[in-house]
Amino acid sequence: MDKIRWGIIGTGKIANTFAQGLCNVEDAVLEAVASRDIQKANLFADKYGFEKAYGSYAELAADNDIDVVYIATPMSSHLGDTLLCLDSGRNVLCEKSITLNSAQLSVMLDRAREKDLFLMEAMWMKCRPSFRKALEWIQAGRIGNVKVIRADFCNLCPYDPDDRLFRPDCGGGSLLDLGIYPITFAADILGYSPKEIISSAYIAKDRVDHYASVVMKYEGGAFADLSMGFDFQCENKAVIMGDQGSITFGNWFHCSDDIVLYDTNSKEIERFHSSNSGTGYEYEIEEVHSCLRKGLKESPLVPHSETASVMKIMDTCRSQWGMTFPEEE
Ligand SMILES: NC(=O)c1ccc[n+]([C@@H]2O[C@H](COP(=O)([O-])OP(=O)(O)OC[C@H]3O[C@@H](n4cnc5c(N)ncnc54)[C@H](OP(=O)(O)O)[C@@H]3O)[C@@H](O)[C@H]2O)c1
Repeated sequence: MDKIRWGIIGTGKIANTFAQGLCNVEDAVLEAVASRDIQKANLFADKYGFEKAYGSYAELAADNDIDVVYIATPMSSHLGDTLLCLDSGRNVLCEKSITLNSAQLSVMLDRAREKDLFLMEAMWMKCRPSFRKALEWIQAGRIGNVKVIRADFCNLCPYDPDDRLFRPDCGGGSLLDLGIYPITFAADILGYSPKEIISSAYIAKDRVDHYASVVMKYEGGAFADLSMGFDFQCENKAVIMGDQGSITFGNWFHCSDDIVLYDTNSKEIERFHSSNSGTGYEYEIEEVHSCLRKGLKESPLVPHSETASVMKIMDTCRSQWGMTFPEEE
């Protein structure tokens, strides 16, 4: 594969950022985009230089010139859109959260295996150099044993009943939209099977979580203290505290380009800066390219088992809150 030919399903906010990311990756070809509305697809194709525009997702899935499809629709559509692509023989990079729950994810993973195709959740944070560097420092023992992780992801999102964030039928709520990042962040460091999950949420009248607090407790006494929400703005920083030092991630920890390593006296020991002049999604795109070229069916950076474990943690949180989506009732 000299070049990797991409299709995009959905023309919303993240599809625009991702398309810009594709433009920044030399060996990515913008093959086709699909919208439920052909006019939107045409506008999007013209804006970024896609070869083709389709007025239905099924037409794009059937296009044999496409090597991999990026799915950028609301959570509640991910299962259907991904199965459509897999059944048509397409590899898939699907936005987070990859499904609404573990039962849906199991169907999706089974289908990818059955069709022998590549499938990855678009957990871009795990592909970013700063996150990889923090893991390297931890594995090298630079902060000793990790004891506590704190990470917040709260954005002030003005209430709009039509926005997917506030719609149960779209898989709305802060856990699946934002909480997946701090949960993945902590799980990748402390482990994907916490001993205990203690969580609570404010479920508003629209029946989705507007704010949630999740504590994950591990064998050996380590804790992850995480929060997520739509009703106010946090600094969105993260800190990993060990018994011999700590690592801080700056604003917007999940896409931070800067991390700092401190000793136990809070003295700065090392600073890592990854210069990124693009959108930040280029690393995830390059990871997909690398996997496809090697013939892999899952990414070593975002393996299916870890995606499934995070989904299980989110299922547990929602069951503690008694929160279900219409599809689950
Ligand atoms: N990786 C990241 O940093 C990041 C950031 C934001 C969002 N996301 C994820 O990306 C996905 C999309 O988020 P977004 O913020 O881009 O959403 P959005 O702006 O609402 O766009 C979603 C798009 O999906 C299509 N769609 C299909 N069925 C729909 C329905 N029933 N209602 C509304 N739209 C529908 C629409 O495209 P057409 O009208 O063209 O068909 C729409 O433009 C979500 O899973 C979200 O969690 C990821």
